[in-house]
Amino acid sequence: MQKVFELDHPLVRHHLTHLRSKETAPHIFRAQIRRLAILLAAEATRDLPLKPKTIETPLVEMEGAVLDVRIGLVPILRAGLGMTDALLDLLPTAEVWHLGLTRDEATLQPVEYYHKFSSNPPDLVFVLDPMLATGGSANAGIQRVKDWGAKEIHMLSIIAAPEGIAAVRKQHPDISIYVCGIDEKLNDDAYILPGLGDAGDRIFNTLG
Ligand code: PRP
Ligand code: URA
Repeated sequence: MQKVFELDHPLVRHHLTHLRSKETAPHIFRAQIRRLAILLAAEATRDLPLKPKTIETPLVEMEGAVLDVRIGLVPILRAGLGMTDALLDLLPTAEVWHLGLTRDEATLQPVEYYHKFSSNPPDLVFVLDPMLATGGSANAGIQRVKDWGAKEIHMLSIIAAPEGIAAVRKQHPDISIYVCGIDEKLNDDAYILPGLGDAGDRIFNTLG
């Protein structure tokens, strides 16, 4: 069953504030996305399955535990790339499969321009995109991953609009959504308010 998890943590509030500020330079913006993605990943991985593993410490033998699931990361290009290394730090054996989507700013519909998926999908997929605005891109990305055959899918975003959350809940009622913050609303151009502007442009310094 689907759940929406909005992080409630002082570090999230702190780092989101620096992320949002228009004074924040691209290299700091990238670092803030990464910090927030780590906090998000810690929450989204809370229920990962484990299997026992016996090891020897320098002093004694003990039974530890290691992850027991094949995990895939699907960053939605471009902005999802900004979250990928943070997830890989925590999940170094995860596979990264890319999905290129861009929102047509006239129709607000997602347009797919690239995808690289194998014939053998991972069991659990984290779809990564910092911005969940109308939800069109997230819905298209999740559908792609479902069609691929992943058994379990979680959507991870830094900032969401209520409209985007509602759209994903409607189209994919089985998917859990993890966000650092749910903002107030979309503006007339379907940008999130207060938001942070265009995440891809701020990550890659392409504001012109
Ligand atoms: C942004 C963002 C999401 C999408 C969100 O990407 O990273 O993918 O918009 O909007 P939606 O919820 O209304 O679909 P964009 O299409 O600007 O591409 P980019 O990452 O290449 O900049
Ligand atoms: N895409 C972004 O990068 N930011 C928004 O606020 C909406 C869509």
